Amino acid sequence: MSNLDNQSEITKRRTFAIISHPDAGKTTITEKMLILGKILRSSGTIKARGSGKYAKSDWMKIEQDRGISITTSIMQFQYKNILINLLDTPGHEDFSEDTYRILTAVDCCLLVIDAAKGVEKRTKKLMHVSRMHNTPIITFINKLDRNSLDSIEILDQIEKELKLICIPITWPISCGSSFKGVFHLDKKIIYLYNKDIKNQSKKIFLNCFDRNILKKYIGLDLTSQISEELKLILHIYPKFNKKEFLKNMITPVFFGSALHNFGIDHILESLIKWAPCPAFRNTNKRIIKPEEKYFTGFVFKIQANMDLKHHDRIAFIRIVSGTYIKGMKLRHVRIKKNIIISDAFYFLAGDRFSIEKAYPGDVIGIHNHGTIKIGDSFTEGEEISFTGIPSFAPEIFRQIFLKNPLKQKQLKKGLTQLSEEGAIQVFYPFNNNNLILGAIGILQFDVVIQRLKIEYKIDATYKKINIMFARWVNSNNKKSISIFLDQNKSNLALDSFKNLIYLSPSRANLNIIMSRYTNINFNKTREQ
Ligand code: G4P
Repeated sequence: MSNLDNQSEITKRRTFAIISHPDAGKTTITEKMLILGKILRSSGTIKARGSGKYAKSDWMKIEQDRGISITTSIMQFQYKNILINLLDTPGHEDFSEDTYRILTAVDCCLLVIDAAKGVEKRTKKLMHVSRMHNTPIITFINKLDRNSLDSIEILDQIEKELKLICIPITWPISCGSSFKGVFHLDKKIIYLYNKDIKNQSKKIFLNCFDRNILKKYIGLDLTSQISEELKLILHIYPKFNKKEFLKNMITPVFFGSALHNFGIDHILESLIKWAPCPAFRNTNKRIIKPEEKYFTGFVFKIQANMDLKHHDRIAFIRIVSGTYIKGMKLRHVRIKKNIIISDAFYFLAGDRFSIEKAYPGDVIGIHNHGTIKIGDSFTEGEEISFTGIPSFAPEIFRQIFLKNPLKQKQLKKGLTQLSEEGAIQVFYPFNNNNLILGAIGILQFDVVIQRLKIEYKIDATYKKINIMFARWVNSNNKKSISIFLDQNKSNLALDSFKNLIYLSPSRANLNIIMSRYTNINFNKTREQ
């Protein structure tokens, strides 16, 4: 079923996302990439929230009030004949579950580290998720124009804490006010940094070991120290090997300063040279390869309120194989219905553009009238479901209350829809009628309360509840499950998709239960 026409479209695509701790420079890098990709003309357009043309991500009041960005953009730009899809992730860590799922839709990640801070907490967690999919990682150490940690120390941290072997491709020449640029260790050339030049043009010197060149451009004081360091680096770090990179065993490392657009072109070069083309994905029946003729894709994100006037809900589909053509008929596998996709869009920070054709690796947004949920598969008829789109056990829990108890039915409906979107998780305890919400970050509760009010006209509030951990429960042993059910009713609930979940008040309780019921699996993640 191979489709040769598609092959050239596939080989010219790369789909990636940025993994970073807040403030490491994700937005600044995105902006500079869009400038290099000629989508943006000047700096400040993404960051100037509420003013510039591309600063329309404040769809929700809560985003405006708090100056945070919850929603996601899908950006497509061209760099040297390669089409790059950059899937933006929510900036705030409270919405990291969204980020986790976005990572299932990419083929490569850019790991960004603040050179002054090294590996930070959130990065570790996100790396753990990208590991689940063995996604290859390119690393960028940012903010070299500021005083930084020792570069070898940063790479040691990455190796130790993220379990990734670092292969530096460029190496910084000093940092902070004496930052001079980077050596390209492979090409054996120097890229000089000059913060006064808006879009850094590269200066190349063929022999970076020539002391006269170093003296002239780097200064006498740094020359011997730098040339010694360079010899050491070339000696201790092995050469880059693409096969190992694609297996997520090593990461190529680049250094630079996103603010001054220095080093961003090196990342883009590596993306087009090394990052994989759109890859295959697993389903419950077989592997789907991108070059297959027929369209397949899966929903990894649902976004409400892309347009506040219409309260519309958009489902984002990552195309796995075939071609999307405007107006085509697709099979919504879970509900066993064929639907005509009269319009699909891509979004750039609030502006939507209608798509005529799209290919594997691309992301299209389609209208969701309440029938699509995260993890759903779309095909041209084949009854397959993509796997590997996880739900993560929530980390904080709240009980939700209605201000008007007569609206219980509407509340349940609203919460079901919000949980299908992945905005929140909802649990229905066995022993009482309480409704329990689970989230990764506290802001998710505020967003849900606000959305219930605006979209469902429901006034609700929430309060703390004595639950600390949740684990999905299953077992092949029917008898064990039935005993477990009988003995633990007061801690058991169903989620919105009728999966059994154990809600535990403490680590000690969870440990005891897990050691008592050894035939039962207690899972931190669940397939959609
Ligand atoms: P994020 O999306 O990962 O959260 O980070 P973002 O790009 O918003 O950057 C966080 C802050 O770090 C911003 O400063 C940004 O200008 C700064 N920054 C990013 N890259 C560099 C760099 O290479 N060098 C230096 N010196 N700073 C960098 P801010 O003061 O928080 O915001 P703004 O007022 O500059 O917009």
